[in-house]
Amino acid sequence: MERYEKAFLAASAVLLVIFLCALGFSSVAMGVHLPSHSGLIYCGVGEKLRMVLRKTPPFDHPGVREIAPGKYQAVVIAKTWAFIPNEIDLPVGADVSFVATSADVTHGFFIVGTRVNTMLLPGQISKFDYRFTKPGEYLLICHEYCGELHHAMSGKVVVK
Ligand code: CUA
Repeated sequence: MERYEKAFLAASAVLLVIFLCALGFSSVAMGVHLPSHSGLIYCGVGEKLRMVLRKTPPFDHPGVREIAPGKYQAVVIAKTWAFIPNEIDLPVGADVSFVATSADVTHGFFIVGTRVNTMLLPGQISKFDYRFTKPGEYLLICHEYCGELHHAMSGKVVVK
């Protein structure tokens, strides 16, 4: 084997090990993971889905509630072209469990400056956790094209 071949093989092996370590570190130590599909509310769209959503907890009461000291649950419904609620108020250091869904088409849920980034599918539940350690106003945007007012679909998270 050529000397260069050996060198490149060794470099590839080292890179592979580095990438696997980075993956392991981010998923285990930093808790970075893909938002999971956490359940189905109703398989279908249209008026029936909206009716089922209005009756299905916790989506019958969208909003933020404290579920334990320092722990909050934010229930969010996306629909063309708004988030309900449009503003999420939290104290600094809050541990938030987002429970979200869409009432009509596929929407995105991205809080700028954080790793909160997921898709909201009609009738399916998306769950993800985040801790807001810095005060500020975070922009919440839809980043899945969802129709003519997609660009106007936004909200905010106010941490203070
Ligand atoms: Cu909702 Cu784009």
